[in-house]
Amino acid sequence: MILVLHGPNLNMLGRREPEVYGTLTFEELEEHLEAWGSELGVSVVSRQSNHEGSLVEWIQRASDDGFRGIVLNPGALTHYSYSLLDAIRSQPLPVVEVHLSNIYAREPFRAHSVTAAAAAGVISGLGILGYRYALEYLLQRH
Ligand code: DQA
Repeated sequence: MILVLHGPNLNMLGRREPEVYGTLTFEELEEHLEAWGSELGVSVVSRQSNHEGSLVEWIQRASDDGFRGIVLNPGALTHYSYSLLDAIRSQPLPVVEVHLSNIYAREPFRAHSVTAAAAAGVISGLGILGYRYALEYLLQRH
């Protein structure tokens, strides 16, 4: 089982700044995740929250809940959440950080990820394909 976590505002995909994030909705992203999971032979559980603490608690519990890896798009928390950084460090699973947009090609504040230091790796700017590649990485790593 792989856990895919989506942070603040990602539930607004499709309606939110379509020129940056595209027109695919969050529900459609979740359908892709499920389809890719079936194709790759792994259950993918997708959860979204606008609350930092919920994301922290899901990360803390992921190993005990039976997940083998985490794909995380922390949204704007990427750029300032030391709680998420510590949560990633406090648990044993590999975390792949994914961003739909290229965070290095946007406003300067987005070019720094606080959470990346604890991630196995980061994929940024490849749209929803970034999630697919992250799933493949986590499966091949084991
Ligand atoms: C994002 C990039 C962040 O800077 C932004 O705050 C988001 C989405 C992305 O997927 O490109 O909410 O993580």
